[in-house]
Amino acid sequence: MNFIPLSIPNVGRAEWELVRECLESGWVSSVGGFVSDFEEKFAKEVDANSAVATSSGTAALHIALKMAGVEYDDEVILPSLTFIAPANAVRYLGGWPTFVDVDERTMQMDSDKVATFLKNDCIRVKGVLTNKHTRRRVVGVLPVHILGHPVDLDPILCLAEEYGLFVIQDATESLGSSYKKRKIGSEGVSCFSFNGNKLITTGGGGMITFQNKEMADRARYLTTQAKDDAVEFIHHEVGFNYRLTNIQAAMGVAQLDRVQEFISRKKAIHQCYVYELANLSDCSIIDQSSWAESGFWLNTMRITRKDKDRKLVHELLKAASIETRPLWQPLHLSVAHEGSWFNDCKVSEVLYRQCLNLPSSTGLCDDDLKRVVSVLKDIFC
Ligand SMILES: Cc1ncc(COP(=O)(O)O)c(C=O)c1O
Repeated sequence: MNFIPLSIPNVGRAEWELVRECLESGWVSSVGGFVSDFEEKFAKEVDANSAVATSSGTAALHIALKMAGVEYDDEVILPSLTFIAPANAVRYLGGWPTFVDVDERTMQMDSDKVATFLKNDCIRVKGVLTNKHTRRRVVGVLPVHILGHPVDLDPILCLAEEYGLFVIQDATESLGSSYKKRKIGSEGVSCFSFNGNKLITTGGGGMITFQNKEMADRARYLTTQAKDDAVEFIHHEVGFNYRLTNIQAAMGVAQLDRVQEFISRKKAIHQCYVYELANLSDCSIIDQSSWAESGFWLNTMRITRKDKDRKLVHELLKAASIETRPLWQPLHLSVAHEGSWFNDCKVSEVLYRQCLNLPSSTGLCDDDLKRVVSVLKDIFC
């Protein structure tokens, strides 16, 4: 019985060819034609003005937050239900993530909870928006488009405008998704990831997209050790070694050429799960909202049966050589972020207990997909 993984890279001939071309050219480090090619193609793909390649999605978030002006003890509003990286990036700058709950249907940051926090838990102190419990300045909001599906952005953008907050989008899991026909990455500042399990991969890597070339130039400067004079090595501020290498970018260019093929396969896998598992009682596949076009990075099953919880289902699938993964421990419960403010995040806790991500690799063949479906039907029959 072959092992069916959760989400693995799909690497073809073109990736080998371009990486070989890169190695033969000798331009293997952060300078080289593939880096700018990848940035230009990526910006075009998501309808952004400019894109800046970084060494990881986490590095992209760190730089975006730094550029937004996050300082020591500032608070940034995040969803509790997300991978930990965006919260860590806030902490790198001495700031604090402030966690709000997610919407039960989409699993994404709940704008009503953001509004409640701003209205009930914040006050103006000498004109500065302040968390009245922690007395810390509240400076921004960081919606995370988890699992391929976009956040309901418009209410969050309105709140940000009303309260004078910056918005940085964590789009690391949602390349290929759209919100009300607007591509994720096409507005404001968004961060992407190309680690091994993402829709496209460069092994490790990230991208920040901007609507403004000056901001992109600033990000490029900060990610390249803030070098002011490349001959004399003069620096006027502390920078970072956060640039993507030319080898990784070569792989990225080849992967990006296949992005539509990957999205089509992700959609087909999702449709198969929704259709085949529609009649199982007390479990469902989380579907996309009417205003969204999901990239379907990972398919999530919600299990509300009393006799079989998601831990048992995970074990049963594991015994059948099928890899699944729960969501993340909600971050308001994470010891790593103790000291952060949070409001009631009960929905995140329930979803964490009940949800399981199913195999969703773009290379998942029909026979393997049928096997996953059939094992699930056996478990739940
Ligand atoms: C929601 C989210 N944010 C940030 C990251 C960080 O990206 P990277 O692993 O490229 O640093 C990831 C992925 O790994 C992620 O899933």
